[in-house]
Amino acid sequence: MPYEPAVWLSRLMPWRAPVDPNAIHAARAAVADLKPAVVVTGGSRGIGLALAKCFIEAGCTTVIVARNALKLADAVAELKAATGVEPVSILCDITEPNAADVISAGLANANLYLDVLVNNAGMGLAGPFLEQTPKDLSSLLAVNIESLTRLTRAALPDMIARRQGGILNVASLGAYIPGPNQAAYYASKSYILSLTEAIASEVAGQGVRVSALTPGPVDTEFHRDMGAERSLYRIILPSLTPDRVAKSAYRGFMFGQRVIVPGIFNTAFVVALKVLPHIVTVPMMRGLLRREFFRR
Ligand SMILES: NC(=O)c1ccc[n+]([C@@H]2O[C@H](COP(=O)([O-])OP(=O)(O)OC[C@H]3O[C@@H](n4cnc5c(N)ncnc54)[C@H](OP(=O)(O)O)[C@@H]3O)[C@@H](O)[C@H]2O)c1
Repeated sequence: MPYEPAVWLSRLMPWRAPVDPNAIHAARAAVADLKPAVVVTGGSRGIGLALAKCFIEAGCTTVIVARNALKLADAVAELKAATGVEPVSILCDITEPNAADVISAGLANANLYLDVLVNNAGMGLAGPFLEQTPKDLSSLLAVNIESLTRLTRAALPDMIARRQGGILNVASLGAYIPGPNQAAYYASKSYILSLTEAIASEVAGQGVRVSALTPGPVDTEFHRDMGAERSLYRIILPSLTPDRVAKSAYRGFMFGQRVIVPGIFNTAFVVALKVLPHIVTVPMMRGLLRREFFRR
């Protein structure tokens, strides 16, 4: 029987639940005819597209998931042109209750199984909380919180059974602080960071990586889509490219880092947010996030 770290860890640490090597081999045998895949939700543009490119370049079979068929087809063509490898694509709205089944079926069709899940798809809402419609708030919670939680819950048991794979959840620098003028978005990212760190602790030593990525501003269409392009943070805070963020995320994930903060400026910003009191930082964020800092 091959060397299995999880089995030896459970023998060395008797307080851990015993691990049955036969169960691990049975779980792996169940997918022996399939290839492991990295699934990136929101892989049709921005950070998700860059993450998909990174995983393809690292030799992983990669699957991108998004709702818009045309954009998905463009992304497949772009990734093929950039890497020489055509990724699999799955058309799916991850807020649908059966999204995990749709993704599983798409993988099975391509003779793949879910090895690494990148929960990247997300949406933002800019402006005062009371200006957000209940419908938009529900959509934000559905994508950023409910879907991510459901997909994570659906994916983890098989990964743990195989003692392989992992989950990379895309949070944000906004996870570390309340964000007046993007209140629901910032709160949703705090949820993602908290959930991910907690799950990472629960499954430690079981052969599965669980990480959160907390990027600062990144140059994507995300800010324009939520009408925040003229906010002060877009003008004065340095932005990273999606490729830079993706490379940092990939490296951190492979090293098993639980929380990945891309860039030195963002790392310093996180330290400042942890050290300074909210009485100072929350009004500062309110100014940075105001939708139209310089009114015309
Ligand atoms: N950009 C930043 O500055 C920044 C900073 C920190 C964290 N983040 C986080 O990073 C992630 C990606 O951001 P981004 O800037 O790359 O965003 P983006 O350019 O707006 O891309 C979002 C992607 O998610 C997909 N998507 C949205 N809703 C979906 C749904 N219900 N089902 C399936 N796919 C869906 C979109 O495709 P379709 O519309 O075709 O579905 C698109 O591919 C988000 O979670 C965001 O919160 C971004």
